[in-house]
Amino acid sequence: MGLAGARAFAGSGAAVVLVDRDEDAVREAAEEIGVACDVTDERQVEAAVRRAVTEFGRLDMAFGNAGIQVPPSDAADESADSFDRVNGVNLRGVWAATKHELRQIREQGSGAIVNCSSLGGLVGLPERAAHHASKHGVIGLTRALRPVTGVGAGASGSCTTPVWRASPPDEPSGKQGDLTLLG
Ligand SMILES: NC(=O)c1ccc[n+]([C@@H]2O[C@H](COP(=O)([O-])OP(=O)(O)OC[C@H]3O[C@@H](n4cnc5c(N)ncnc54)[C@H](O)[C@@H]3O)[C@@H](O)[C@H]2O)c1
Repeated sequence: MGLAGARAFAGSGAAVVLVDRDEDAVREAAEEIGVACDVTDERQVEAAVRRAVTEFGRLDMAFGNAGIQVPPSDAADESADSFDRVNGVNLRGVWAATKHELRQIREQGSGAIVNCSSLGGLVGLPERAAHHASKHGVIGLTRALRPVTGVGAGASGSCTTPVWRASPPDEPSGKQGDLTLLG
């Protein structure tokens, strides 16, 4: 979804910087500038934002999209490691990116951030407690920023991507649902 979004922006004439922890994927995709970055590491996130600004002089729009799934688990049996892993990427990663993007946007006086949540940010399904906690968190974090900046969160329906192949929903639709704006 992130790559498709980046290509859509590039197709509309935007200068795009792709950021992902998967160095090979970033290199393969890089008609645009690619930066390898693990969003669980705030210093790497800060460096990626700095790189974009150094390259293009400003940051007009950011899309917080990196996300993972963990295997479904009864909440009573979920390990702390599993909870930390999914929240480290899906929530802390979005928090770190949003923080450093906002610093640049504050300096510029304008800019927009869209963070990708999920239907799991709106509902609570059995065996998804850790994942849904992370996605609810993305919406709460993003809503808290809405009064001061052009920041929004979105939730999409299911589509078949590596995240879902790692832990497919009961009935994947196989295609991307409409984006629901939440904040
Ligand atoms: N696929 C769906 O049906 C669906 C539904 C609702 C929400 N989402 C959300 O959409 C977003 C994109 O998911 P997708 O389906 O395109 O999955 P995807 O696996 O194709 O893309 C996720 C990307 O995040 C990257 N990533 C993972 N951990 C990272 C880290 N620590 N640092 C940097 N990058 C990291 C991966 O390398 C991958 O390129 C996710 O936030 C996901 O939760 C997806």
